[in-house]
This record gives sequence, C-alpha cells and structure tokens, in this order.
Amino acid sequence: PSAVIVAIDGPSGTGKSSTSKAVAAKLGLRYLDTGAQYRAITWWMITNGIDTDDPHAIAVAAGKPGIVSGTDPAAPTITVDGLDASVPIRTQEVTSKVSAVSAVPEVRTLITELQRSIAASAEGGIVVEGRDIGTTVLPDADLKIFLTASPEARAARRSGELRGKEATDLAATKDALIKRDAADSGRKTSPLAKAGDAVEVDTTELTLDQVIECVVTLVEEKR
Ligand code: C5P
Repeated sequence: PSAVIVAIDGPSGTGKSSTSKAVAAKLGLRYLDTGAQYRAITWWMITNGIDTDDPHAIAVAAGKPGIVSGTDPAAPTITVDGLDASVPIRTQEVTSKVSAVSAVPEVRTLITELQRSIAASAEGGIVVEGRDIGTTVLPDADLKIFLTASPEARAARRSGELRGKEATDLAATKDALIKRDAADSGRKTSPLAKAGDAVEVDTTELTLDQVIECVVTLVEEKR
C-alpha cells in the first residue's frame, strides 16, 4: 500500500485522539497530535513567565522553545527543550490558556511548518489530528475527516478522561469546552473548520470502536 496522509479535525471531546491513534496503529501509519504541540508551546510560555494574554509577548517568544514530537501511535511523545512534556501539557491551566496562545499568527506559522515537515518525512504515511489540518496544514491530504458530537456527549467524554486526575464537574467541563471551541472557531488565523472536501462523522451515537472502524474503512478505500 502507498503512503497515505490522513487529516482528522474537529472540536474537543469528539474522540479525535483515541480514533487517530487507533487508526494509525491498525494501518501501520505514523501519528501526530498537533494539539499537544500547541499545548507544549503554551506550557513553555507559562513556565517562562510570558503573559499569555499578551499576543505581542507570545509572538516575540514563539520561536524560543524547541518542540519535538514522536510519531509512534503506540507511544506518542512530546519534548520541549529536551524535557518530557507529556504530563504537564494536560493540566487545566494549560487547557485554559492554549486557545489564546494558539491564536497568535507567529505561533501558528512556526507550528504549521513543523507539522508539514513531520508529515513529509513520515515514511508509509501518517494520521495528523487537530483543528486546521484539512483546511490549512495539509490541504492535499488523501483523506480528510471532520469529527463532531453533541456538546453533551463531548463534555461527558472529556469529564470521563479527567476523572481521577483533577477535580471535575460536568457542567464546568461543558462550559470550558464550549468556550474553548468558540475561541478556536472564532479566531482569525486558520480557525477550527471543516474542509469542503472532508467527510463528516457524527460520533454522538457511536462507540469508539465504531468510529475507528468507519475511519479505517475510509482510509482503506484511498490506498
Ligand atoms: O486537541 P487539543 O484539545 O489537545 O488541542 C488543544 C488546543 O490547541 C485547541 O483548543 C486549539 O486551541 C489548539 N489547536 C489548534 N490547532 C490545531 C490543534 C490544536 O489551534 N491543529
């Protein structure tokens, strides 16, 4: 089978990461979590005392952190200046600030270049998940998927993921998620959007296995 490039976009809580990793593992493709890269740069800004409400300060500092993403779907890694960042990028503090940081055009330009070079060097093909992969990062992807789900389903899934890690409450999780999606959809530079040629999959009534099966079938049709 030839190398295939798959773009999977959609708002948070639609099962993007779980689906993308499983599809990549099943089909022997590499995997890239682009949200983790925006989280990593946000974590670096926070730990280095950069005001995340100041787009100018963010733009000036954007090129400083060295972000490296590992693309094994069984064990994706992310390091910042050589330090493992996989745990700290998942805190509520990073989650609440990532939309502001990722909206800064200088940040997007740098991260987009990084993503394109990773996709171009992925032998055998890759699944890249995010918000603007099909529209901006990889407009020539072989297959574009846009995952959706009702706000209730998304909040329930996200709160299930967080349970045990941090104190959560369903209503607060839903509010935070809706706020983040509104910011991601409303920003000027490459907002969260469905590409015209993307296949939309509503996951509200589907199990994770059903979503994986559906995407695997779509990829196989392209190979
Ligand atoms: O997917 P995840 O929830 O980890 O993404 C975190 C944040 O990173 C998103 O809310 C969004 O602000 C940003 N992001 C982005 N473009 C992408 C992927 C993520 O702006 N391609």
